[in-house]
Amino acid sequence: MRQHHRTPRLLGTLLLVAAAGISLVGAAPHTEAAAPPVRVVPAPASVEPGGSPYRITGDTRIRVDDSREARTVGDYLADILRPSTGYRLPVTSHGAGAIRLRLGGKGLGAEGYRLDSGRSGVTITAGRPAGLFHGVQTLRQLLPAAVEKDSVQRGPWLIAGGTIEDTPRYAYRGAMLDVSRHFFTVAQVKHYIDELALYKVNKLHLHLSDDQGWRIAVDSWPRLAAHGGSTQVGGGQGGFYTKADYREIVRYASSRYLEVVPEIDMPGHTNAALASYAELNCDGVAPPLYTGTDVGFSSLCVNKPLTYDFVDDVIRELAAITPGGYLHIGGDEAHSTSHADYVTFMDKVQPLVAKYGKKVIGWHQLTGATPAKGAIAQYWGLDDTGAEEKAQVARAAQNGTGLVLSPADRLYLDMKYTADTPLGQDWAGLVEVRRAYDWDPGGYLPGVPASAVKGVEAPLWTETIVTSADIDVMAFPRLPGAAELGWSPASTHDWDTYKVRLAAQGPRWDALGIGYYRSPQVPWPAR
Ligand code: ACM
Repeated sequence: MRQHHRTPRLLGTLLLVAAAGISLVGAAPHTEAAAPPVRVVPAPASVEPGGSPYRITGDTRIRVDDSREARTVGDYLADILRPSTGYRLPVTSHGAGAIRLRLGGKGLGAEGYRLDSGRSGVTITAGRPAGLFHGVQTLRQLLPAAVEKDSVQRGPWLIAGGTIEDTPRYAYRGAMLDVSRHFFTVAQVKHYIDELALYKVNKLHLHLSDDQGWRIAVDSWPRLAAHGGSTQVGGGQGGFYTKADYREIVRYASSRYLEVVPEIDMPGHTNAALASYAELNCDGVAPPLYTGTDVGFSSLCVNKPLTYDFVDDVIRELAAITPGGYLHIGGDEAHSTSHADYVTFMDKVQPLVAKYGKKVIGWHQLTGATPAKGAIAQYWGLDDTGAEEKAQVARAAQNGTGLVLSPADRLYLDMKYTADTPLGQDWAGLVEVRRAYDWDPGGYLPGVPASAVKGVEAPLWTETIVTSADIDVMAFPRLPGAAELGWSPASTHDWDTYKVRLAAQGPRWDALGIGYYRSPQVPWPAR
């Protein structure tokens, strides 16, 4: 595997072409010898195709290690396979089983896995349960797209023979959902989590507060949710998560091996809080709720001691229901806060995050203050953001601040694909599928040590996004590209082979009911 990480680009490409070559034999999908093509997104670190395929039949059993986590991943796999195959597929922790989920093996890290497939069965081996789960996502993609349907389909259910060894390039592979501009229910968030899990995304960043809505219950400041959560962009009724709701999102995300990263955006983007409590305002007057889409007009009152009681309470309560390691404190577009106040505010707030046992993440403007030790800055600039701003981020990275890259003209899923895209915005530009995929996080920002890059994240802002179908058409097909940038070794990066693998996802999304943008850049199979 290590070897393959260092594989030169050409050889990596050849490996993928070799893998894709199986599809030539697979051209007649209903013949006995044919295996489906190996067209996996994100590209695995190494694929060695060869040998006979395994065929799932009515006799197949799923044998798992005798641990709660392995059993749960086995049940998850069975739940995917049973409706479309129509087979019983018992999950068992003893005896034989042709599909085997094993904990063990060395060198696979916290999330890696090895998948061995041959005539007698398929074994997924991982050091940790997360690796088994990611291996299961790969296994899904080795099966025909019809496996994703929820009614019985015709097989055969062949899995190409060979070995895949796979570990992620980056530990932080995120997606953000803005639940403030428009509120999304727990069920809608779970739906998105399931989609993220398909592509091995492991962080769900929830943008829980903004000018237009406060979306998380805080017991010590109840009007934040009750009043601040009572509307949204356009004036709809909004909503908020109770603590039980939030815990349920966290639990569900964790069952898909995603960690929730909650964001309370401060000191700007705070109109919903300021509207809920007059005393948080410097002039003691609460502004009205806001349902428009302007930015940069609100600020917490940096010189009022009460502001820090408020922030302490919010962070304490949120940290208490967040098992993950991070708490995102926003820090973007604080245009109504002076620079000196911004620095003062961040100096006071970052220690509160540490006080409650979490690490700070902030939008990259945090690098204009003094990022706390261990903090991560999330870069949301553009390719042509000024050299000075990039240099400020690079200096922070040189001084130990980690970076998560979300270039707005690459990874903002709310940017329109073309001028004709009905939803979304275009302030960062038009972002077609190739543009979203075709860059290297490792070398993106000049002067940033490669080790400072912790990963990538694809944010979805929801000023224009209202339904799950809206989420789907903006996230697909760009989200899988972001996920691949986070997971796959740079040696596999190649648009021409990527677009073929991406095209193979289309029938899967059709089977799953995910409506996506049929970009003309991608050679989708005919429907
Ligand atoms: C941002 O897009 N204001 C982080």
